[in-house]
Amino acid sequence: MHNPEWLLRLRNELSKISGEVAVQIWPSTNGKPYFNYRLEHVRQVERDARWLLNLVGGDEDVVLAAVWLHDRFQPQLESPEDHAGLAAGWAAGYLPEIGFPEEKINQVVYAVEMHSSPVQSLPEDAHEARLLWDADKLTKLGPLSVVNMIAVMPAYPDHSMNSGEIVRMAKQELSRRQTLVDYFYFEQSRERARQRVKVQEDFIRQMSRDVAGV
Ligand SMILES: [Fe+2]
Ligand SMILES: [Fe+2]
Repeated sequence: MHNPEWLLRLRNELSKISGEVAVQIWPSTNGKPYFNYRLEHVRQVERDARWLLNLVGGDEDVVLAAVWLHDRFQPQLESPEDHAGLAAGWAAGYLPEIGFPEEKINQVVYAVEMHSSPVQSLPEDAHEARLLWDADKLTKLGPLSVVNMIAVMPAYPDHSMNSGEIVRMAKQELSRRQTLVDYFYFEQSRERARQRVKVQEDFIRQMSRDVAGV
């Protein structure tokens, strides 16, 4: 697997930055966070991006650097205004310092800056930016999105949880996200998105029946 030194640096840094915030939001008795949502999200974006790279090709350096930088200014759930623009500006100054190939920096900066751009707004020649966009949004669909929704809940201690509430939230989350399915740039992403949504719908439907006792 392609794991250059600069990638290890980017991974370590995001683990540290996100871990410091996570331990405040999700404290546990052993001093480590009970959950690090942002780190898990970015790890999944990397898995989905590598999967997509294998199918559609692209510059691995550009995609992987963009994956690990894209949410740097959104270390957990709250994001400042224009977290994509902040990360892009920071990446432009930082990538030369860690030995990232100079000639590819502009592409990384562009992909990071555009990762939360409106659907279908990226031109066809922005292949790596499209790939990051798809990988980032794919992580919002499927069984993992239900698991994440529940795992982050201790961040909202005023919220009472019970099975009925989990069903309601899972339905709401699905209806908010499923509109994405047709907007992925690559056919392979659309297919994967449909597959994930189908499993998510089945899961929620069964959960809903079980909780209703029917
Ligand atoms: Fe983001
Ligand atoms: Fe993201």
